[in-house]
Amino acid sequence: MSKPERRHAALAAMGVTAWVPRDAAAAVEETAASPAPAPAVPAAADMSGADQTDWDSLAAAVAACRRCELHKGRTQTVFGVGARDARWMVIGEAPGQEEDRRGEPFVGRAGQLLNSMLAALGFRREQVYIANILKCRPPGNRDPRPEEVACCEGYLQRQIALVNPAIILCVGRIAAQNLLKTQTPIARLRGQRHVYGPRQTPVIVTYHPAYLLRSPAEKRRAWQDLLFAQRVYAEATRGSG
Ligand code: URA
Repeated sequence: MSKPERRHAALAAMGVTAWVPRDAAAAVEETAASPAPAPAVPAAADMSGADQTDWDSLAAAVAACRRCELHKGRTQTVFGVGARDARWMVIGEAPGQEEDRRGEPFVGRAGQLLNSMLAALGFRREQVYIANILKCRPPGNRDPRPEEVACCEGYLQRQIALVNPAIILCVGRIAAQNLLKTQTPIARLRGQRHVYGPRQTPVIVTYHPAYLLRSPAEKRRAWQDLLFAQRVYAEATRGSG
């Protein structure tokens, strides 16, 4: 299968069948908001470069974590998965039931759709790094609480520092608002190039795949977000070989 054919198939799997972009640039023109740089997220204390925790120590710290009440209800922690030197990092909300059972992010139905979204971008799941705001499942899949996010924040910060991605794709309101430290609604976070951390890593926001499963009509917008992310990535890495 040729590359365009593979993308077409991935789009079909994603459920985007009615609309195929003429090309990425044209599609980006059609996004609702024009890309504008957002203010940088202030560097947190442990993003100063002083944190030297390596992958093994970080994974062990997460596995043993009892900082918040969520440890009591978990089957296991869900650390993150994928290429530790990935150029693209995907950040979701928190493990669901299936993720808690298997110890891996995005392995349920939402995960299958995320895989299709990644395939539409030309990636296999193993080529990106996938992590969540929370490493433990909230009971009944309720929204993460601020104190739980605060307890887990350092783990994600260190994962991002270690991966050092060229771009971060935030899926869903919870991931985006917590990563970017904002209460801005997702509708206004989409279509903007945000930045994260001391390296000013570009962050693009799109809908959560679980939301897209409930609202398939929004998949076209999600596809626009992915094309926008692709363009931001190309800009961010231009000239870096
Ligand atoms: N939803 C998320 O945000 N993360 C997962 O790992 C699974 C579902």
